[in-house]
Amino acid sequence: MAAKRGPNPRPGILDIAPYVPGTSALPGAGKAIKLSSNETPLGPSPRAIEAYLAEAAHLSRYPDGSARPLREALAQRYGLDAARIVCGAGSDELLNLLAAAYLGPGDEAIYSEHGFLVYRIAILAHGATPIVAPERDLTADVDAILARVSDATRMVFIANPNNPTGTYLSFDEVKRLHAGLPAHVILVLDAAYAEYVRANDYEAGIELVATSENTVMTRTFSKIYGLAALRLGWAYCPAPIADALNRIRGPFNVTGPSIAAGVAALQDEKHMQEAVEHNAVWRGYMAEQLERIGLRVTPSAANFLLVHFPEGDGKSAREADKFLHHHRIILRRVEEYGFPDALRMTIGNEPENHAVLEALSEFMGAA
Ligand SMILES: Cc1ncc(COP(=O)(O)O)c(C=O)c1O
Repeated sequence: MAAKRGPNPRPGILDIAPYVPGTSALPGAGKAIKLSSNETPLGPSPRAIEAYLAEAAHLSRYPDGSARPLREALAQRYGLDAARIVCGAGSDELLNLLAAAYLGPGDEAIYSEHGFLVYRIAILAHGATPIVAPERDLTADVDAILARVSDATRMVFIANPNNPTGTYLSFDEVKRLHAGLPAHVILVLDAAYAEYVRANDYEAGIELVATSENTVMTRTFSKIYGLAALRLGWAYCPAPIADALNRIRGPFNVTGPSIAAGVAALQDEKHMQEAVEHNAVWRGYMAEQLERIGLRVTPSAANFLLVHFPEGDGKSAREADKFLHHHRIILRRVEEYGFPDALRMTIGNEPENHAVLEALSEFMGAA
């Protein structure tokens, strides 16, 4: 296409499909039940809210440029080296910083078939080529990923557990993937939902980051800590990668109120454990009940369920979505993830979960 007069973005930028977040509101008056963005039904720790509010007295001051209090709190909580932690405006920023530092035209980066969409955007935004590896049983397939590694590969992104499938790779599989990658390829383990996993064979990635030169783990305060609005994430990196990210990030990329809320959230272990417990109980219950009314649910290790609808007999995901909106319930359409026949449901609080079950029972004719 001929360049237009006036400023033009770099080649490829306009080929990027913008990320479309889940629906967050419905037309008309009245409250809606929003289970479309994997937010926690328990909200943040009251201590985090208090710490956030206390920062209102210091809004004229720049925050600590390296988010030091938060890095130190994270280091203490997880037994890490604070110098190798980089904080960001959500893990989204860190995924983009990794791409900015290590990907460019001619480079390839691999992610799996139903992987989190931000990877594709971050790869394309920096002029690199996305390579998609097929999955097996809606789970990242280590062999398929390794088979796609070429001389041009620079990065592999794995969400573990993955959004929107909820499936995860065992630590043995992650280690096998890492072992098969050349030393110059960075393995990005996006562990946004790590806290929710209750499987003995799972590791978020700390050990692999600690023992290798080419693994990065990203984490977020948006999910279990209930601080999505503050945009707060962190990455644990080998020292040279932390150094590269620190050179290109904004000098004050994390706000003071976010740092304070993050530190306080980490101190409230009880609140976090309640969120883990709530999720485990309701995730199991909801999966069982949804199956009971005739829907197929992908086994999930995270705080959401991928719910599959029958094709073409008036019970499609599109029709279910419409029906749920009519009942003022918002789940997440997942067509752009390759699932035209599914909806993703975040585990809500008790009344929200029951409302979904009631509405879907009626929809499926099983009430
Ligand atoms: C797999 C995965 N990674 C990263 C993120 C981004 O989280 P953050 O709010 O920290 O940018 C999400 C959010 O939905 C996610 O599902």
